[in-house]
Amino acid sequence: MKTVKKIAILGAGNLGISIATGIVEKKLKLPSDIFLTRRHIGLLDEFRDLGYRVLCDNKKAVEESEIVFLCVQPQQIDILLKVIKPVLRKDHILVSVITGISLELLREKATGVSQLVRAMPNTAIATGQSMTCLATKGTDAALKKVENLFQALGLTLLIEENLMQAATVLGASGIAFFMRYLRAATQAGVQMGFESQEAQKIAVQTAKGAASLILEHNSHPEVEIDKVTTPRGCTIEGLNEMEHQGFSSSLIKGVMTSFYKINQIKS
Ligand SMILES: NC(=O)c1ccc[n+]([C@@H]2O[C@H](COP(=O)([O-])OP(=O)(O)OC[C@H]3O[C@@H](n4cnc5c(N)ncnc54)[C@H](OP(=O)(O)O)[C@@H]3O)[C@@H](O)[C@H]2O)c1
Repeated sequence: MKTVKKIAILGAGNLGISIATGIVEKKLKLPSDIFLTRRHIGLLDEFRDLGYRVLCDNKKAVEESEIVFLCVQPQQIDILLKVIKPVLRKDHILVSVITGISLELLREKATGVSQLVRAMPNTAIATGQSMTCLATKGTDAALKKVENLFQALGLTLLIEENLMQAATVLGASGIAFFMRYLRAATQAGVQMGFESQEAQKIAVQTAKGAASLILEHNSHPEVEIDKVTTPRGCTIEGLNEMEHQGFSSSLIKGVMTSFYKINQIKS
């Protein structure tokens, strides 16, 4: 009887590789405890060299694993599930990061598996700083195992599944929204006289610092804003101009437009 404490990452693309790398970097598993699959396995040579078990045989990876991550694109999931269905066991924990695939649909397609977790990380998982929202139809024990993995790769939040689309927009698309802010701030820095690398460094570290004030001091954005806005000063003048130009309003409208769109795609 083989040990079944291994992890299978089916669809070792951008997100799958980030999850595997993070798990190994945080020393939760050895590379040899992780199966990585994709069809073009030549693209995973460097990971084979690092000791990961690289395969194109999804069934074998599933058979020998306890936790199975489904990391393919939404249009690829049907074929993948058809292939692995015969080897899925009741005790497998199936974790899907696939946008728009509900737990109910997953259960229907992966009959036999009772431990299902849906996860919505973001690309900052590559640096161990993901915000990962989780929803489950499984036992607390199964959820805990999955939560432990994602907690090593950032923060996690257990949510009702009906909020998964909102979590996708706020967390996963959120990376793009913040990147656009960073680019704009950098452009302003260049206009004021910095080289672009310098401006970017200032903007990025300032964004990280602002986030850390909220995360580590459990503060509120307005409290931190008050601390840097002197009466009649330059900060309040800039902030008010941003608001006159629709800063908060355009952000909220942008997020909501993404939300309406994601709901159209999935309905
Ligand atoms: N990027 C994000 O911010 C984000 C956040 C949350 C969730 N997601 C979701 O995560 C999933 C993966 O995203 P991604 O950006 O990592 O996509 P990706 O880079 O395209 O990775 C998908 C991988 O699946 C492999 N694949 C396709 N069919 C397969 C099969 N039958 N067996 C094994 N491997 C197979 C592909 O490689 P081959 O072509 O070589 O097979 C590819 O490497 C998507 O469903 C996306 O919705 C993404």
